[in-house]
Amino acid sequence: MIYFDTAASYPVLPEVKVAIAEAFNSSYANSSSSHKLGEEVALSVDKVRGQLAGEIGAYPSEIVFTSGATESNNIAFKSLLPNLSSSDSKHIVTTEIEHKCIFSICNYLESIGYKISYVKPDKSGVINTDAIEKALTPETVLVSVMHVNNELGTINPIGDIGRLCNEKDVLFHSDGAQSFMKVDIDVDELNVDVMSFSAHKIGGPKGIGAVYIRDLRNRELTPVIHGAGQENGVRGGTVASPLISGFSSAIKNFPRYYEDFKKTKASEFLLAELDRCRVEYKRNGSNFSLSSCLSLTLFSTNVAQLIRENENLFCLAQGSACSSKEIEASHVLTAISLSREEAEKTLRISFPLDITKENITELVEVVRRY
Ligand SMILES: Cc1ncc(COP(=O)(O)O)c(C=O)c1O
Repeated sequence: MIYFDTAASYPVLPEVKVAIAEAFNSSYANSSSSHKLGEEVALSVDKVRGQLAGEIGAYPSEIVFTSGATESNNIAFKSLLPNLSSSDSKHIVTTEIEHKCIFSICNYLESIGYKISYVKPDKSGVINTDAIEKALTPETVLVSVMHVNNELGTINPIGDIGRLCNEKDVLFHSDGAQSFMKVDIDVDELNVDVMSFSAHKIGGPKGIGAVYIRDLRNRELTPVIHGAGQENGVRGGTVASPLISGFSSAIKNFPRYYEDFKKTKASEFLLAELDRCRVEYKRNGSNFSLSSCLSLTLFSTNVAQLIRENENLFCLAQGSACSSKEIEASHVLTAISLSREEAEKTLRISFPLDITKENITELVEVVRRY
């Protein structure tokens, strides 16, 4: 089985498995306990907080561990907004290509009186700063634009959008689930106030992530999970220290694997193979994309049948994981003006770290037959 779905989740790295097993064996105490073992666990959690902060140019006190990017996105909106918005500042700007969890959060916020504007990407799937500027109103309290899109791999100009938000004095959030450890992130250079991360997108365990909140200690935040004061009171619940150890190992080890992966030039090789086999295709997205994620519309290929009949050979996604079991065309593909038929003929290929040329040739051979 060749796993072409790493944008949905990476296999857990071998080093991460070792780190988690060690943590389950030795760091089982509750990090809130005041005895020696508990304090040791609290120290190790704070060490990871520092490690993550160091990766993104933040202070450790600005990092909150969460269950993943979905929860981080919830915190970004629902913890910060109540203390920022008044009755006449209830407007949020986001985009048509965000992860579905952002739409769910926005639908909820709409039901309690917020107005949401959804900005369209350009044809290549990139959100332009001008388009965000046009959507701003004096009532805008929050702008949220994802860093890297999970279906196209496109990279948005977060630094420019952040500068604009800064000038307009509007809070800026970016969902960094797909960009973390794959694209350089410095929260000051990117001008972000809040940013979401997830461990399983970099070979870490599922169920752990983090949210960066600029100047966290001086903000009034409404907890999304009320609890016993953990994580600065923002996120109650016993801290998942073994998963945090796994997250730490992923942060440490993923870049090495990813650098080696980039050297394989897998996307370029796959496109060259498609050309060689005279397969008709269009690459969606811009040239400014992650090298690990490719969205291809295969005009003469029966993509649904290909996926169905080869499910024992390849893990492939049509659109995003969350929408791949739905009959509707992916909202991201619709946003870049693909017709329903084109969307149905579109594959998202996100490469495993250990991809080989033989794996790619095998895939192209199968594509050619459908
Ligand atoms: C851009 C983006 N945001 C959020 C998520 C949700 O992340 P998690 O599974 O950590 O909640 C994902 C992954 O599915 C994603 O790709």
